[in-house]
Amino acid sequence: MNVSRRSFLSGAAAITAGAVLAGPAGAAGRRGLSVSGEKFLLDGKPFQIVSGAVHYFRIHPDQWRDRLERLKALGLNTIETYVPWNFHQPKPGRADFGGWRDLPAFIRLAGELGFPVIVRPSPYICAEWEFGGLPAWLLADRDLELRCADPAYLTAVDAWYDQLIPRLAPLEAQHGGPIVAVQIENEYGSYGNDTSYLAHLRDGLRSRGMTSLLFAADGASDFFLRFGSLPGTFEAGTGDGDPAPSLAALKTFQPGQPVLMAEYWDGWFDHWGDQHNTRDPAQLASYVDSLLATGASINLYMACGGTNFGFTAGANTSGTTYQPTVTSYDYDSPVGEAGDLGAKFTALRPVLTRYTGVSAPVPARSARLVARTLAPSGSVPLLDSLDVLSKPVRSAQPVPMERLGQATGLIHYRTTVQGPHSGPLSIHGLADRALVFVDGSPLGVLDRNRPSGTLDLKLTKPSTRLDILVDAMGRVNYGPYLADRKGIDGWVAMSTQQKLFGWEIRPLPLDDLSGLRFGSGGAAGPAFHRFTTDIAAPEDGFVALPGWEKGVVWLNGFNLGRYWTIGPQRTLYAPKPLWRKGTNSIVVLELHEPGTTIELRPEADLG
Ligand code: GLA
Repeated sequence: MNVSRRSFLSGAAAITAGAVLAGPAGAAGRRGLSVSGEKFLLDGKPFQIVSGAVHYFRIHPDQWRDRLERLKALGLNTIETYVPWNFHQPKPGRADFGGWRDLPAFIRLAGELGFPVIVRPSPYICAEWEFGGLPAWLLADRDLELRCADPAYLTAVDAWYDQLIPRLAPLEAQHGGPIVAVQIENEYGSYGNDTSYLAHLRDGLRSRGMTSLLFAADGASDFFLRFGSLPGTFEAGTGDGDPAPSLAALKTFQPGQPVLMAEYWDGWFDHWGDQHNTRDPAQLASYVDSLLATGASINLYMACGGTNFGFTAGANTSGTTYQPTVTSYDYDSPVGEAGDLGAKFTALRPVLTRYTGVSAPVPARSARLVARTLAPSGSVPLLDSLDVLSKPVRSAQPVPMERLGQATGLIHYRTTVQGPHSGPLSIHGLADRALVFVDGSPLGVLDRNRPSGTLDLKLTKPSTRLDILVDAMGRVNYGPYLADRKGIDGWVAMSTQQKLFGWEIRPLPLDDLSGLRFGSGGAAGPAFHRFTTDIAAPEDGFVALPGWEKGVVWLNGFNLGRYWTIGPQRTLYAPKPLWRKGTNSIVVLELHEPGTTIELRPEADLG
């Protein structure tokens, strides 16, 4: 795994694995999954795992059944999901398992459809998800060290597991439920070397009642595998491309054990400003066939696409170049973001069904909204709406949003500067993109990827209002730069060295827009624009914003995610369950200049 997060399609991309064995109850005869020599057993019988990843947190719950049925039609015999900690516990304290967050309901549903379920509840999941699933509030404590045996981190993990694991344990196969295997951490070997942390997680699962097969999964080199594995715990691999070298490496690392590619990447995700990633369906089908022909087991990552709704997309960074992930998590999966079954589904289905014997009818494509164009019915500038969106906090210095209990969204900083004066304005510790205004007029944009960038300040009056609106994109979800505090985690300076003091700071999580007062005219600069449209029958649709630059879209109060003219993604998925029969409201926050209209479309355009 490389830090820049390019996948390797070449055959050289490999996995290896380390260490041994099954769940505590041994092999043949036990319910669920176990290891017997070089085979997996399910309920005591030889079983080749042909699994696919599907993320309940990226799919509206009313569509869970539909997507699982499509995965059945694909020919899978097992389902796998991550559990993002921050989705369930966005604030410390009581975790949320209601509605969309009803993980037990998702697992039971998969079980009803005949799928054994692999759960990956690791406190950290990567997954191109905001902060790799870790809750932003962990970053309020500057001394807390992530993903190791730091006592403050373990205390938070344990408190989360005290709520999560008792909900999972009764769903294990030993109690007649679908859960057959559980991952303890995610590609830990590419992050750290604290085996005592891995042991703590393993013991935490066992002591809270989990008896399933536990495993770790790590990528490519012997180096990563050695540090990611835990003696006595089954080790699986992650990778893509020609599976032969990967399978050979796994066998060498863990001789005499079954081989599991816990993530075989059948597609890939996209970054803003990059190209859209796809993979050749016929080549993929032939690789998957060659993997399964050896008797190895697989989890297709992703089998079913989804959406990084709201502010849930993650990001990557090399340390110098920050790359936020787009809103769609279609991933070029066999079952697409809107459930579409394309060429990859068609190529993989005969291969998978040949190994699993699973046979299920192929569901029809979902019905779509008819294309239409919408003009705004009103607008209101963001800087005029601060009082209805937030309460100000006063601080000598700017502070990042985590210090104010804010997880995601935007954050606004205001101060007064004395003039007359001319010189450069700079922001130190910016994440991720700042729109700067002088007495309400735009001065320019500063960006995290140009840390030495400055704006020319020309102050003619004795007193000038300075507004800085920081747009936080996703927190980093992979690699050593995980602790990605948002907003301004540093200072603002005039003429290189003079720190500006005396700030009014407003968190803008934008989770409630009901207080906005739209005027009938248009508005430039950062502003909310309202649209209404009547829908006779809700169906799946996509929102396109041609001519708009960068912002966020809400449908009936639900945050569909970010758009950005740099692409590659051009449309946002607006799933059927979010539409209403009758009048629907769409709100667009455009940070720059608005276009004239937006469009509803029946098809996605991912670039
Ligand atoms: C790794 C991680 C996954 C995901 C993929 C890339 O394998 O374990 O969570 O980030 O890379 O999509």
